[in-house]
Amino acid sequence: MSELAIRIDGISKLYQLGDAERYKALRDTLSDMIAAPFRALRRGSLRAPRQTLWALRDISDEIQEGEVVGLIGRNGAGKSTLLKMIVGADQPDAGSVRLGASLKVGYFAQQALDLLDPTITVFEQIQKDFPADSQGVLKNLLGAFQFSGTDVDKPIRVLSGGEKSRLVLARMLFDPPNFLVLDEPTNHLDLETKEMLVDSLHDFEGTMIFVSHDRTFLRGLSNRVLELRPGDADAGIAAQPPFPYLGSYVEYVERTGSEAAGVHN
Ligand SMILES: Nc1ncnc2c1ncn2[C@@H]1O[C@H](COP(=O)(O)OP(=O)(O)OP(=O)(O)O)[C@@H](O)[C@H]1O
Ligand SMILES: [Mg+2]
Repeated sequence: MSELAIRIDGISKLYQLGDAERYKALRDTLSDMIAAPFRALRRGSLRAPRQTLWALRDISDEIQEGEVVGLIGRNGAGKSTLLKMIVGADQPDAGSVRLGASLKVGYFAQQALDLLDPTITVFEQIQKDFPADSQGVLKNLLGAFQFSGTDVDKPIRVLSGGEKSRLVLARMLFDPPNFLVLDEPTNHLDLETKEMLVDSLHDFEGTMIFVSHDRTFLRGLSNRVLELRPGDADAGIAAQPPFPYLGSYVEYVERTGSEAAGVHN
C-alpha cells in the first residue's frame, strides 16, 4: 500500500481584479472609438465587468507517495495557482493543503529564473550551492545540462531564458528533494535538454506534480492525470470538479480521444 503524500482539501482562491468602474469607463471609451459601427450589434453581448475571479474553486485531491501527476487544463484553469497553494507560495481563501511530514519540496516556477543572482557566474552559483563537491563533479553536472567549456564562466546576468532554466534545474536535480513541483519547466528548453530532463526525471523515485504543455513530457512521465475543469462563465459552461484520471497521460489520450488543451510536440 502506498502512503498518502499530499491531501488537498476543498481549496479555493479568489483574486481581486481591480476597480470595476474604471474598467467600465475604459471599455466604454474603447467601444466608442473602435466599435461604434457595430455597437447596435454588440450591445447585447457586452458583459458586466467582473471584479473578482475564482482562480480555483473547491478543489480536492489526494496524491500518493511516488505518484507523478500531470496537471492539465486550459489556459487560466488555475494550474499555476494550485501549484502555488501546494508549495505554500500563496495562501488559499478556503480549504487546506497538507503535505506528509517527510516531504521536502523542490519548486520550479517561471519566477525562479528571476531569483538567480545576476552578479555571479554559472560555476560560482553551483559552487555556492554544493560547496562540498569537487570541481570535476560540478562540471559534470553542468555538462549534463549543456553548459560546456567557457559557458560555465558566463555571468548569470547574460544568460538566455533557456540557459537560466537549465541552471535552475541543474541546481534542483543534483540532490533532488523527494517532492518535485514543476510549473512548465520545459518552456525555454531545446529538444536535447528536454529529452535529458525527461530521462533524468524518469529515474526520480519521489512524488511529483507538474504542469507541461509538452507532449513528450506528459507522455514520458505522468502516471496519473489531474484535469482542472473550471468551466467558462462567459460561455455558460458550468465548472466541474477536477477529474482525477487514474492512469498515465497516454491512457488519458486514448480514453478521451484527444490531447489535453494546449498540448504540443
Ligand atoms: N495575481 C493574480 N491576480 C489576479 N488574477 C490572477 C492572478 N494570478 C492568476 N490570476 C488569474 O487566475 C486564473 C488562473 O491563473 P493560473 O495562472 O493559475 O492559470 P494556469 O492554468 O496556470 O494558466 P496557463 O496555462 O496560462 O499557465 C487566470 O484567469 C489568471 O488570469
Ligand atoms: Mg500557469
